[in-house]
Amino acid sequence: MKKKDLVLVIDFGGQYNQTIARRVRELNVYALVKPYTITAEEVKEMNPDGMIFTGGPNSVFGESALEFDKRVFELGIPILGICYGAQLMAHTLGGVVDTAPTSEYGKTMMKVLDSSSELFNEIPETSVVWMSHTDYIKEVPSGFEITANTKDCPVAAMENKERKLYAIQAHPEVMHTECGREILKGFVKDVCELEGSWKVNTFVEDELEKIRNTVGDGKVLLALSGGVDSSVAAVMLSKAIGKQLTCVFVDHGLLRKNESEEVVSVFGEEGDYDLNFIRVDARNRFYEKLAGVTEPERKRKIIGEEFIRVFEEEAKKIGAVDFLAQGTIYSDVVESGNGDSATIKSHHNVGGLPDYVDFKEIIEPLRMLFKDEVRAAGRELGLPDSLVDRQPFPGPGLAIRIIGDVTPEKIRIVQEADYIYREEVRKSGESKNIAQFFAALTNMKSVGVMGDFRTYDYAVVLRAVKTSDFMTAESAKLPWEVLEKATIRIINEVKGVNRVFYDLTGKPPGTIEFE
Ligand code: XMP
Repeated sequence: MKKKDLVLVIDFGGQYNQTIARRVRELNVYALVKPYTITAEEVKEMNPDGMIFTGGPNSVFGESALEFDKRVFELGIPILGICYGAQLMAHTLGGVVDTAPTSEYGKTMMKVLDSSSELFNEIPETSVVWMSHTDYIKEVPSGFEITANTKDCPVAAMENKERKLYAIQAHPEVMHTECGREILKGFVKDVCELEGSWKVNTFVEDELEKIRNTVGDGKVLLALSGGVDSSVAAVMLSKAIGKQLTCVFVDHGLLRKNESEEVVSVFGEEGDYDLNFIRVDARNRFYEKLAGVTEPERKRKIIGEEFIRVFEEEAKKIGAVDFLAQGTIYSDVVESGNGDSATIKSHHNVGGLPDYVDFKEIIEPLRMLFKDEVRAAGRELGLPDSLVDRQPFPGPGLAIRIIGDVTPEKIRIVQEADYIYREEVRKSGESKNIAQFFAALTNMKSVGVMGDFRTYDYAVVLRAVKTSDFMTAESAKLPWEVLEKATIRIINEVKGVNRVFYDLTGKPPGTIEFE
C-alpha cells in the first residue's frame, strides 16, 4: 500500500539541513531529516518518493569522508544531491571530485545549459545562486550530463535522467538563491511527481487520532508554561482526550505583564478547552529563593530547580499518570543530532526532568512540526493570536532581564516598561521584521530631573534584534520616532524610571538576553 508522500532529507552535517526540509514542506510535501548513517534497508522500509542529500563540511575524498551506504543509490528512488550531496553522488558513481582551483563563496551567477532539465523548468538561463564550496566536481560519472555551470565551476549541476539522479553545487534552499524554490519544486513536483497534499490541518487531524489510540483511557500530565509550544500541545491533547489531560501551570511570577492571567483565561475554567487546569501560584516561593541572588547562572539554576520542585508536588497530589506530555518540536528533535531520537527537552528549558513524576511514557504531539507549523496548528485549533504569535521567551523569564538581584518592585518596573515598548513597536508595524524585542532593567540608578524635582531612579534598556537562528543577531534599526515615543511613555508612566537606553550591540559580542 502506498503511504503518504514523503521526501527524506539525508543529513551530511550542513548548516541548512532543517531549512531544506522546511522548503519542501512549503511545497506541501512531507519531509523528514535523517542522519547520513541510514542504511539502504532503512530507506527501503520508509519507502520515500524522493531523497535530498544535504551539504556538509567534509570532503568526499580523503580522511574526513563520511561512511555512507552506497547501495542507497541503487534503490531507484529519485535523489537530489546538494553541494556535498552533489559531490558524493559524483564521487560514488565514478566521477572525479577534487579541490577546486577557485573556491566559490556567496552569490554567483549560474548558467543553465539544458533548459529541458526538470530542475530548471521554471528558471531563466542565468540567475543568482548561493555557493559555498572548496571542492568541485571535475568530471561527471558516465551516464550523466552537465546541466549548468558558473564562471569557476564547470559542473554546477549534473543529472542522469534515466536513473532520476540530480545534483546541484549551489544551495537552492537559501534565500540568496534567486530561483531556489523553483529548483526544489522541479525536483519534488516534476522528478518525484508529488502533487503536494501535506498540510498542517491534515497533520493535526491525523495526530489527534494517533493521540487517542496511544493514550486509550490513560491519564496525561503536561507542564504548561504559557509559551507557544506547550500551549499548542495542551490544546491538541485537550481536543484529543479532554479531561484525561491535566495541565499544571506553575506561575513563577516572572512572566511578562498580563501573561499569567491570559494563560488562565484561555485554559482555565472560563476558557474554551476541555481539560483539568491547575494554576500554582508560586510567585512568593520564587521571589524568596531569588532574594539577594545576583549571579545569572545561579538565578537560572534556582528557577529551574524550584520549578521542578513545584511541579513534583503537584504531580504527587495527582498520583500516578500514564503519560507525561512535552511540547518538543521538530527543531529540538533534529538538533539533538539524530533525526529520530530526541533527547528529552527540559520543561520550557528551565531545568531537567522531574525526578519524581510517576509516569510510564513520554508523548510529544508536536515532535514532527517546525515552529511556524506549530503556530499554524495552534491557529487551526482555535488558539488566540496573542498566544500563538508570542515571541521566544526564556524559561527563567524576567529574572534574566533584570540585572542584579530580583525584587517584586523591579519585576513590576520591567513588566510595565516592556509592555509599553512592545505596544509601541507593534503599533509601528516594525514587529513583523524583528525576531525578539523587549525591555530589561539595568541595575543602575542615575540622577534626573522631573518637574522641579531631582530624581534618582532606574534606567531601562530597550532591545530589538533581527535573527533567524538566534545564534547570531543584529540590533534592529528601529525608527527614531518609535524609540522616542516608547521612551517618553515609559518615563511618564512607569514609576521608578528616569532614563531609557537602546542597545545597539549585536550577537556576538553581546547575547540577546542581558544575563
Ligand atoms: P542569548 O541571550 O543566549 O539568547 O543570546 C538566545 C535565545 O535563547 C533564549 N534564552 C533562553 N531560553 N532559557 C531559555 O529557555 C534560558 O536560560 C535562556 N537564555 C536565553 C533567548 O530568549 C533567545 O531567544
